[in-house]
This record gives sequence, structure tokens and C-alpha cells, in this order.
Amino acid sequence: MEQKAIIETHGVITIRPIKPAELKDVIKLLKKSFKIHNVFSGPTKDIRKYLAKLRKAEENNPLTFGIIVATLQEEKKDVLAGTMVVRTSAMSKEGLHASFKYMHLAVNEKYRKHGIGTKLMGYADEKIHQLIEKGKIKTARVQVNIAEPEKETINFYEKSGFHVEANLSNYYRYNEQVYILSKLISAEENKEG
Ligand SMILES: CC(C)(COP(=O)(O)OP(=O)(O)OC[C@H]1O[C@@H](n2cnc3c(N)ncnc32)[C@H](O)[C@@H]1OP(=O)(O)O)[C@@H](O)C(=O)NCCC(=O)NCCS
Repeated sequence: MEQKAIIETHGVITIRPIKPAELKDVIKLLKKSFKIHNVFSGPTKDIRKYLAKLRKAEENNPLTFGIIVATLQEEKKDVLAGTMVVRTSAMSKEGLHASFKYMHLAVNEKYRKHGIGTKLMGYADEKIHQLIEKGKIKTARVQVNIAEPEKETINFYEKSGFHVEANLSNYYRYNEQVYILSKLISAEENKEG
């Protein structure tokens, strides 16, 4: 398998929360991966502000896990291979159902198609499963918004259990579609899994 090849050359792929010193590389990766994005195609200082705002919005949220990264070993140093942001976008009144958004998933071009994107999502899914196991929530919806330029990645998300639920016109930019993908995670699924 592809993943085995990269592990042989680079050691284990680690998925974990971002360390502050990695923010610079995360921004570089997002700029490279989303060239026409409304924020990531702009100045670095605005990207910093945007990510800080995302982090702040999650600060007092007991379910949160924020910005995560995938790292590999190169010459005994951690190098950034990928990143993803997780947000809690809604919570039912009694706290039993939560809606999450997986955002800004990007893998460094030279490490793509080695299972790293799947691992980043798997890490977030696993955190949600743990919240369910601990009884913090019973069910979770996960949403991903895919803009037209990234349309081909729908296939990638479908492999991780997402389905296209809706599409929006003229949302991020004029004359462009956005595909809304979602999946449900529940205790039932935990049992089956
Ligand atoms: C989308 C992205 C994160 C995928 O990361 P990755 O590490 O290459 O993905 P994986 O190796 O885990 O791929 C898992 C499966 O999805 C498929 N897949 C991956 N990228 C794909 C793409 N661009 N189009 C279609 N299928 C894709 C793989 O072939 C693989 O299938 P397999 O299990 O049958 O071999 C990466 O291509 C990327 O960073 N793209 C640019 C940013 C972007 O478009 N992000 C998504 C929108 S937010």
C-alpha cells in the first residue's frame, strides 16, 4: 500500500493538534493548496487573523479540537505533511447532538495519495467517536463544503462516508457552485464499527 511506502522512507505519520511554531508552515500549505480561496489567496497577516478567530471561536467549547496537523520525519525533524481545521458549528439545546465542520483539509502536494488526508479525517472522526463513548454527545453531523475548483475531491470524501447533500449557487464567489457534503456519526455506528 502507498502508506507503507511513505512510512518506509519517512517513518510514522503522526496526527496531532498544531504546535504554535507550526502555524507558519500551515499558512504556507493553505496558500499553496487553495489558490483562489477568499482568505488564503490574500495577505499572510489576514490568514493569521482568520485562523486566530477560528481558534478563539472554539476556545470555550468542551468538544473542540481545532487545527490538527499530519507530520512526517525528515532527517529526524518533524515536517508538516498536512492540516485540517475542525469546528463545532451547532449544538442542540440539551447538548446531545453536535454539528462539526471539517475545513481547509490540505496535504502537501509531494505527499498526496499516500493516505494522509484520510488519516487526518480519521483522527477527527475518532475524537467524535470518543465524545459519543464518553456520553458527551449521542449523535454528530459532520459537514464539508466543497467549492467548484475542488470538485474532484468529492470522490475522496465519499470514500470516508460523506455524501453530497445539497449544492449552493454563488456562495463563496459569483457564478460558482458549492457542494455541501455530510455524514452522521452515532452510537449505533460505534457499535457496528
Ligand atoms: C484532497 C486531499 C486533501 C487528499 O489528500 P490525500 O492525502 O492525497 O488523500 P488520500 O491519499 O488519503 O486519498 C484517499 C482516497 O481518495 C482518493 N483521492 C485523493 N485525492 C483525490 C482527488 N483529488 N480526486 C479524486 N480522488 C482522490 C485517493 O485516490 C484515495 O483512494 P484509494 O483509497 O482508493 O487509493 C489533497 O489532494 C489536497 O490537499 N488537495 C488540495 C486541497 C483540497 O482540494 N482540499 C479539499 C477541499 S477542502
